[in-house]
Amino acid sequence: MRIRAAVLEQFGQPLNVTELDLAEPKAGEVLVRLEACGVCHTDMYTASGADPSGYAPTVLGHEGAGIVEALGDGVSSLAPGDRVVTLFSPQCRECVHCRSDRTNLCLAIREQQNQGYLPDGTTRLSRDGEPIRHFMGTSTFAQYTVMPEIALARVSPEAPADRAALFACGLSTGLGAAINTAKVQAGSTCVVFGAGMVGLGAVAGCRLQGAQRIICVDRSADRLELARGQGATDTWTADEHTVQRVLDETAGFGADYTFEATGLVAVMRQAVESARMGWGLCTIAGVAGRGETLDIIPRYLITGRRVCGSSFGGVKGRDQVPELVQLYLDGRLDVDPFISHRITLEQVNEGFELMERQDGIRSVIVFD
Ligand SMILES: NC(=O)c1ccc[n+]([C@@H]2O[C@H](COP(=O)([O-])OP(=O)(O)OC[C@H]3O[C@@H](n4cnc5c(N)ncnc54)[C@H](O)[C@@H]3O)[C@@H](O)[C@H]2O)c1
Ligand SMILES: [Zn+2]
Ligand SMILES: [Zn+2]
Repeated sequence: MRIRAAVLEQFGQPLNVTELDLAEPKAGEVLVRLEACGVCHTDMYTASGADPSGYAPTVLGHEGAGIVEALGDGVSSLAPGDRVVTLFSPQCRECVHCRSDRTNLCLAIREQQNQGYLPDGTTRLSRDGEPIRHFMGTSTFAQYTVMPEIALARVSPEAPADRAALFACGLSTGLGAAINTAKVQAGSTCVVFGAGMVGLGAVAGCRLQGAQRIICVDRSADRLELARGQGATDTWTADEHTVQRVLDETAGFGADYTFEATGLVAVMRQAVESARMGWGLCTIAGVAGRGETLDIIPRYLITGRRVCGSSFGGVKGRDQVPELVQLYLDGRLDVDPFISHRITLEQVNEGFELMERQDGIRSVIVFD
């Protein structure tokens, strides 16, 4: 079929919204009609050429929500008409990682996905017979996409697609960092560094876990205001005294849980040093620049602090994304303020510009 899609033709150039060919889903694959797709830093990072593992030409986009249109052979967990959220982090339910409750890092299709291919090593996207690669296994800046069944989470049909799309990446990452990775205990004190989509999700996750005090730290007053809406009890403007301030306000001990959601290694260090002696847990969700390292004074660890990382919030997507979406439908999670702009596919490059200016949390492409 012919589809319109936003193609990264060359690094550093605006995306080209154009017509491509999309082949039928093969065995284990699903054709999805996109209804909405968030525009994320990861798309822009790849488009810029800064990501050394990037490739072109490819159709970007990984924060999609849409409707199942057709099934390849052997697909049994989805049916045409289902509303789905796309997963750059799949869940095969069979590999050694999927069978463990200690990680969400499914191993089933990693190698092919990292190179922009579907699991059988080929693409369904093409132009004049030339293959076009599938970014993050999702390629959701497009009217339709073909994806593996194991990378689609079926969510409630009542979830509006633009809201559901937020759960495809940063929001679930933040929520999961608090709920799955840190497993925040009720009554605790938490500090969240960064109030973008990930940090705001972490604030909401801490609130849902029953944290007593949730301190959110950012440089933007607007974003700190949004953090209040998600349950932050204290909002602090970021500076180099944040660690001391956390210690001062916790009788010199530090916070039970800290979360880093900026991608800045200096802030990661602050998050480690703000964690409580004895049992403080620092969860790192930010993605640092290539080659950067995190400095930790070993004494912080010996005196009982722990540090861990969190990819996609430890969320096993097919099982847990539907549950997180349900929190929204049940009125326990207010995601409406995260959508700052609704744009068309043709306006995708404007979505990048809005992000560069830090104008709002998410621009969401809405397909007609
Ligand atoms: N682990 C994962 O699976 C995963 C998934 C999505 C995104 N990420 C990463 O998480 C990070 C955050 O993503 P996002 O979409 O929320 O980004 P964002 O850019 O929207 O938010 C980052 C926030 O950090 C704030 N900030 C800047 N300097 C600061 C400082 N010194 N102290 C405190 N806050 C400061 C900014 O003002 C901004 O609000 C990025 O590094 C992103 O790549 C990780
Ligand atoms: Zn994303
Ligand atoms: Zn797996």
